[in-house]
Amino acid sequence: MNQQPIGVFDSGIGGLTVVRELMHLLPHEDIVYFGDTARVPYGTKSEKVIRNFAVEDTLFLRKQGVKMVVVACNTVSAVALGLLEEKFALPLVGVVKPGAAEAARRTRNKKVGVIGTPRTVSSGIYEREIRTLDHTVQVFSKACPLFVPIVEEGWEEKEATLLVAREYMEVIKAMGVDTLVLGCTHYPLLSNALTQVMGRGVQLVNSGAAAATAVQTLLTENAMGNSQACAGALKVFISDVPYHFQLLAERLLGREVKDITRVDLEAIDLGGYE
Ligand code: DGL
Repeated sequence: MNQQPIGVFDSGIGGLTVVRELMHLLPHEDIVYFGDTARVPYGTKSEKVIRNFAVEDTLFLRKQGVKMVVVACNTVSAVALGLLEEKFALPLVGVVKPGAAEAARRTRNKKVGVIGTPRTVSSGIYEREIRTLDHTVQVFSKACPLFVPIVEEGWEEKEATLLVAREYMEVIKAMGVDTLVLGCTHYPLLSNALTQVMGRGVQLVNSGAAAATAVQTLLTENAMGNSQACAGALKVFISDVPYHFQLLAERLLGREVKDITRVDLEAIDLGGYE
């Protein structure tokens, strides 16, 4: 079990920002990543469709013999994690709970902003999770659908991005939050722009980094970590090879991506639940 890989999936390749955090924290673990690039984005789709996709993505990873599954996608973590927990016996870690816990712990003035896809924000899950941990915290959320294409276009440092960020952040900034949750896989790449707009006093919470810490805790507590000293390998599966995939994948991961395989989920017998 210990030497089996950690499975990670996302609606596309944005989840490589979460893999980046995992590789940093758990350098000896092998990772199998599945990015559903043929069906991305999930963030604007209905909950029913997202749930079906999430089950298929998890079945695919289980078929790869993973010891646990990290749901790197905030949208899936927001609307489908409960269903996956019901259906699968595998240990599962999403990004919402760890991100919410970190925000609740770090806010001093008890005012937290949350940004994410329309589906993540409309689910209200960050607010519920944060307020369950500390009911005195006020949460202000905003869907920022343009941020994903901006990152995919490599426009993080452009003036136009600052304009968009100012527009989106206006209401949250006016509320005087001291903490902002980056509730989407792509947003860590916008950290500079967001700090410029929100001011240095506002701390950014990377939900992917918080999830990586939760994975580390789970592996340690259950003695599931890979004790071998060699560097872990990353295997990437994608359901389509989109436009400038390689370039984007390497920007999101922060290093070279070598082992990439395209898979057709429809052509694979994914098997049923356990
Ligand atoms: N990975 C998604 C998330 O973190 C963003 C992209 C999408 O909408 O599918 O919510």
